[in-house]
Amino acid sequence: MSIYDITPVSVADYRRRAKLRLPGFLFHYIDGGANDEDTLIANVSDFRRYQLKQRVMRNVDSVDTSTTLAGRASAMPVALAPVGMAGMFARRGETLAANAAKSAGIPFTTSTVGICPVEEVAAATGEPFWFQLYMLRDRDLVLKLLERAQAAGCDTLAFTVDLAVPGMRLRDFRNGMLGGGLPGKLSQLAQIASSPLWAVDVGLRGRPHHFGNLSDVVPDPDDLNAYKAFIDSQFDPTVTWEDIAWLRGVWKGKILIKGVLEADDARAAIDTGADGVIVSNHGGRQLDGVASTITKLGEVAAAVGESTEIYLDSGVRSGIDVVKAIALGARGVLIGRPWVFAMAACGQSGIEDLLAVFQQEISVAMALMGVNTIEEINPELIELVQE
Ligand code: FNR
Ligand code: LAC
Repeated sequence: MSIYDITPVSVADYRRRAKLRLPGFLFHYIDGGANDEDTLIANVSDFRRYQLKQRVMRNVDSVDTSTTLAGRASAMPVALAPVGMAGMFARRGETLAANAAKSAGIPFTTSTVGICPVEEVAAATGEPFWFQLYMLRDRDLVLKLLERAQAAGCDTLAFTVDLAVPGMRLRDFRNGMLGGGLPGKLSQLAQIASSPLWAVDVGLRGRPHHFGNLSDVVPDPDDLNAYKAFIDSQFDPTVTWEDIAWLRGVWKGKILIKGVLEADDARAAIDTGADGVIVSNHGGRQLDGVASTITKLGEVAAAVGESTEIYLDSGVRSGIDVVKAIALGARGVLIGRPWVFAMAACGQSGIEDLLAVFQQEISVAMALMGVNTIEEINPELIELVQE
């Protein structure tokens, strides 16, 4: 980067700025993946294995990126993925992101383990948003959570199924984010001390840092190790497809199953009554060594058929990637790290600016591919690079 580069325009630009601002352990919690991070890397690089078709002379005077996602109008086929603890990366992060999504006209998803409670997000925007659920052992608690989410205006539930147990994120152990005892705590304090902007803006003025949706059940919500202990004790690894039937009975809106990678699992999700699937490997944060999502999308699309909404996340870094996913069968994509880095670097306007770049990239790609509508983007417009 040169000193004359004043305007961030790509995810890499925001990532660089976020790294300068955040305490190291938080940056690496966001940035990192499981084990050797092979899947994390493949998620991004495998988009390059596909090439789009340039088509000319087709009157592209009315390019329109808008579509519908989970039954609601959206300015483009992009939604903000659920990200736990967003309020640790910027002051009241979930409300900033929900506001940015509102001004961009796209859906925002809040996490079960968000810092801001669903009520605070709802009050900030007055718009419907999506709620992400982790199944907890205590089903009464889950019921209460879902009731709160619905009362706050959540109409779509993203039920995450790829975190039966937390993945092995080595960076988090190495730098004191998780475990590490007293030395880990001291290391965290030193990292915070060398991030004064974050320490004042988020560390002090961003309080409380409780898990807003769970603050009455996590024993010491200010303690990240208490959070880890909570996940270990409450996240329910006994979940099976039968639980979807239970969810269907208690959730009135749409249900998307997030974290499906294999065609037979996608089929099972739909057979049990879900409205759609999100093809995801959790951004390479869970099982390292699994395939990238973009290479699996075609199989899933072929297996579940047209009436099901298929989304993709993990590795989307530009509007070009969005167009590739749509061409391979997705209705839309979710982005995780891109919005978090933009927010950590530049707050709400960072997310808004990044989304404007994505929209422009989609629009330019459509024009140069000779299509005016999202519906026209189909598998004929993409091909696998010959190796
Ligand atoms: C996540 N993700 C996630 N997913 C989920 O269902 N609930 C959650 O609480 C979280 N938390 C979370 C925190 C952080 C810091 C990251 C980076 C990711 C996964 C997220 O929703 C999404 O699947 C991935 O981030 C998509 O990959 P990209 O876009 O980050 O490559
Ligand atoms: C993560 C969990 C919170 O990926 O989903 O860190």
